[in-house]
Amino acid sequence: NDIYVGIDVGGTKMLAALVNGNGTIMAKVQQPTRAERGTKDTIRRLMAMTESLIKESCSEAEGNTIQGIGIAVAGILDPSKGTVMLATNLGWENVPIGPLFKQYFQCPVQVINDANAAALGEWLAGAGVGMKDVIYVTVSTGIGGGIISDGRLMLGSTNSAAELGHISIDRNGPLCACGNRGCIEVYASGNTIAKRVREDIRSGEASTAIVLEMAGGNPELLNARHVAEAAQAGNEYAKDRLADAGSALGMGLTAIIHLVNPEMIILGGGVSQSGRLLFEPMLDTVRGHGIPEMVNRVRFVTAKLGGDAGAVGAALWWRYERTITSAVQ
Ligand code: BGC
Ligand code: NA
Ligand code: ZN
Repeated sequence: NDIYVGIDVGGTKMLAALVNGNGTIMAKVQQPTRAERGTKDTIRRLMAMTESLIKESCSEAEGNTIQGIGIAVAGILDPSKGTVMLATNLGWENVPIGPLFKQYFQCPVQVINDANAAALGEWLAGAGVGMKDVIYVTVSTGIGGGIISDGRLMLGSTNSAAELGHISIDRNGPLCACGNRGCIEVYASGNTIAKRVREDIRSGEASTAIVLEMAGGNPELLNARHVAEAAQAGNEYAKDRLADAGSALGMGLTAIIHLVNPEMIILGGGVSQSGRLLFEPMLDTVRGHGIPEMVNRVRFVTAKLGGDAGAVGAALWWRYERTITSAVQ
């Protein structure tokens, strides 16, 4: 039986999984990323996780043959070198993660963008099975996307297609870590939702009290989940934060729907778990701004593989890449 190692390195968590050719996870390990400890430390822990998972590096694991390692990373990659050129939410620049893993585990390694991987995972083994035109959006630490168009994962010239989080909806908007202004990531990501609340706490905004309480009174520990919890408990301030994020997301999705004409949009990532309080303002915005004939036929669903989508997709990338390469030859 062919199995693959799928690894997902996100801004908040990292996950390594053994995945079979159907996209079923056979074993997995997970850890918080803690990128602030530095790239070396993150990679060292990631290797230890992978090692514990496969034990005998890429030879035999319980009668299965490991065919390769797929690493999904939240950033812009150089697929030919296997390096991460820029991953702002990890603080990585020119990190040769592919070669490092290849050398250590002595087996084939490929790198892929985390959201493109998750799109592939959801399409081949999750909510988008059997569809031809699907957009996957992850709202997590950052905002990422992946596009299945005409039954193919859209990769672009250097596999970096579908940086949906960096679509600008205001040329004069706040500066994004990517250098642009007004990217949907500066309005709707988990990071920015939390950042905005911290700023309001600092400027003495009284209505932030409940959110701060959810974070145990420590603004530094406050994240988007606390905002979602406060919103679900009925706090108007927190509801407004999710609504702001939802409508910015809706503007971005409107642009993508007009561009890609999808039948389905799959929403993944931790912040998507906020549910209705994020989705309703998002849908209102899409319906209010989009071309009705195009936006009304789109089905919005939540990711079926949840937080596993990236790792599953990174593993299935091996099989998928083989089919597209043979199709090209
Ligand atoms: C990065 C993307 C990534 C997304 C989600 C963005 O900031 O630019 O490459 O897919 O975050 O992790
Ligand atoms: Na992407
Ligand atoms: Zn940006």
